[in-house]
Amino acid sequence: MAIDMAVNGEARRSACDPLTPLINVLRDEFHLTGAKPVCREGFCGACTVLVDGAPTASCLTPVALVEGCDVVTIEGVSAGGRLNEVQAKLEQHDAVQCGMCFPGMVLTLTHFLERMPRPSREDVRAALTGNICRCTGYERIVEAALAVAGAHAEIRP
Ligand code: FES
Ligand code: FES
Repeated sequence: MAIDMAVNGEARRSACDPLTPLINVLRDEFHLTGAKPVCREGFCGACTVLVDGAPTASCLTPVALVEGCDVVTIEGVSAGGRLNEVQAKLEQHDAVQCGMCFPGMVLTLTHFLERMPRPSREDVRAALTGNICRCTGYERIVEAALAVAGAHAEIRP
């Protein structure tokens, strides 16, 4: 059985068993290794991708469920090799350590800041509850997210 989807704007077809976790298809079949299989139990957020715009744990998502969907991975957010604004602020704030959590962190924050462009510190922390970082203590990540929001506020009257 073939399963069709768009991945980062390109039509892709998987020939995997329909119950194969999406992360396996992305990494092993499509060679998109940005999403990280850390816990494989839906707790850590390192495998997060966007499915039809919604942050989704690709470790728990059978590939059959994304038939006909738009999937965006971390490889899809930096068009032409340019960091998106969340990635750029994370880098500027020196927020990245080992980096294992960051593909999921970036996709979660990108989605969150599109929907809540001017969040409070508490809003950012709440948005990150599904993304576990074992290295950083979160403070610089939160500062980076608030800096993205600050840039939005400067642009928008
Ligand atoms: S690897 Fe999917 S949530 Fe941890
Ligand atoms: S930077 Fe290492 S887990 Fe977050």
